[in-house]
Amino acid sequence: MSSPDRAWCFGLPKADVHVHLEGCIPSDLLRDAATRHGVEVPVRSEQRDLAGLLDHLDASCRLFDRADLLRALAWRFARRCSWDGVVTADLIVNPSHWPAWHGRLPEMVAALDEGFTRAESDGHPTVRLLVSLRRDQSGEDALAMVDTLITMEHPRVVGLSIDGDEASSGPTGERFAPAFERAAEHGLRRAVHAGESSGPDGVRYAVRLLLAERIDHGVRAVEDPTLVAELVDRGIPLDVCPSSNLALGLYPILHSHPVEELRRAGVRVALGTDDPELLGGDLTHEYHSSAAAFGWDHKATAAVARTSIEVSFAPAALKAELLERHDEYVRASLPTA
Ligand code: ADE
Ligand code: ZN
Repeated sequence: MSSPDRAWCFGLPKADVHVHLEGCIPSDLLRDAATRHGVEVPVRSEQRDLAGLLDHLDASCRLFDRADLLRALAWRFARRCSWDGVVTADLIVNPSHWPAWHGRLPEMVAALDEGFTRAESDGHPTVRLLVSLRRDQSGEDALAMVDTLITMEHPRVVGLSIDGDEASSGPTGERFAPAFERAAEHGLRRAVHAGESSGPDGVRYAVRLLLAERIDHGVRAVEDPTLVAELVDRGIPLDVCPSSNLALGLYPILHSHPVEELRRAGVRVALGTDDPELLGGDLTHEYHSSAAAFGWDHKATAAVARTSIEVSFAPAALKAELLERHDEYVRASLPTA
């Protein structure tokens, strides 16, 4: 059987569970914000690596210093999901990139929440927030942020995440373990960037020290078969972003990307977009291009999309509804499957 075409991948109900608000700033909103501040529109440096990307996110996000701008970003993100056949998203937001909101996390979340609420009433998908730490923060700052999240108890914020550059920060599992333990004790879900700018050890620390329920990227786990077996046994999913990995130079071409080896080994994999305004296409493209590169038929492609909904942090009722929608799409579009 042939691989699915783009239109089928678009219609396939799927969740984006690895995507950063910082990497979803539409170019028109960025241009308007720069104009208002009287500065040049930030342009990504020639340095096509993670450090260069993070600097660019800092330069862009600092321009968004008003609640109405955050509301607009949130609304546009939800619409972007609709236009990509994404039925729900776990969206990462990292306050360290947004200096105008430092010390004002409740106000920041409130503004984003208003944008998402309005988008939902306009028929766009439900978006949950994962508030993220950055690898170069101190352990004390991390604990303070978790305490703020616990006090806020905001229904839009379902979990804690961590991102940033592990290559320059070094192993930081022990530094952040108390923050993730506290988050877990208070019912916050946990997703951890690892196995992108770190090797298999980063993934091992994520699972063992940071109590990760889901690994963002995780692809370099493939370098250690024992770790791969552990991920399979424990059912710990990876949300993998092939276009991002290619754009940041982790792998030279899609055919050499390990997502297929991991999937075949039995690891639960979902696809994500990471920073789609900057690093690649939409989620439909991730499914379409991976299916073509790895020879996935409709059934295999649908199974990855189904995993994306299963491993999302959506509440049980919404998840059940979205899985039913997904299964119905597959039943109706592949009557002989
Ligand atoms: N923040 C935004 N994109 C990221 C990535 N790919 N890795 C780590 N931190 C990030
Ligand atoms: Zn990411």
